[in-house]
Amino acid sequence: MEQLKAFIFDHPLIQHKVTKLRDAQTDTKNFRELVEELAMLMAYEVTRDLPLKEVKIDTPMGPAVGHMLGDKKITLVPVLRAGLGMVPGMQSIIPQARVGHVGVYRDHDTLEPVEYYFKMPSDVADSEVFILDPMLATGGSAVAAITQLKKRGVKHIRWVCIIAAAEGVRRLNEEHPDVEVFCAALDPVLNDQGYIVPGLGDAGDRLFGTK
Ligand code: PRP
Ligand code: URA
Repeated sequence: MEQLKAFIFDHPLIQHKVTKLRDAQTDTKNFRELVEELAMLMAYEVTRDLPLKEVKIDTPMGPAVGHMLGDKKITLVPVLRAGLGMVPGMQSIIPQARVGHVGVYRDHDTLEPVEYYFKMPSDVADSEVFILDPMLATGGSAVAAITQLKKRGVKHIRWVCIIAAAEGVRRLNEEHPDVEVFCAALDPVLNDQGYIVPGLGDAGDRLFGTK
């Protein structure tokens, strides 16, 4: 049995919301809200190993020592377009995070990624980067986005998606084995057009109502 390396969120709230998201009856408003809520729930797990620093504070009862996030910068990087839907949920939990943007779309015929935008904070190389995109299908867009970030010197990258196809996880594991992959569901196959089955359809179109 093949060993794919990915963390799968098995929390009941996440599984419940992913099932609603997949449902073809879910309209754009509810789809957008579900993506935001899923990203918020995922934020807890994907930030689990962020370093903490000891701080001294005064409670109303006197001095205390606590722990807060260290000085390491955090950058959220949505892959345009569909990754944008995950930003508000993540930001609600990590308000200090900066946001960089990567524009990549998949050519409908070749399924190859086409890169069209890249804008990061100037010190992104020293940052913990969370790439956000609801879908990991062939893995072409993910590999392109990660390669661009590594060219700018980024060392710590996590890939956070909602539905991953086995093929995409395999490709990420092979081409960027240092990048941790997080997903809420691991689906078995892609169809002839490169869509994940059962998947949820076209995430960008469902999120922005562009079908
Ligand atoms: C979707 C999705 C991923 C990509 C996954 O974007 O949001 O970025 O496809 O497919 P892959 O793993 O085979 O590369 P899409 O190309 O539809 O772009 P859009 O949201 O801008 O329409
Ligand atoms: N992109 C999507 O939005 N959905 C898929 O199933 C595959 C790629």
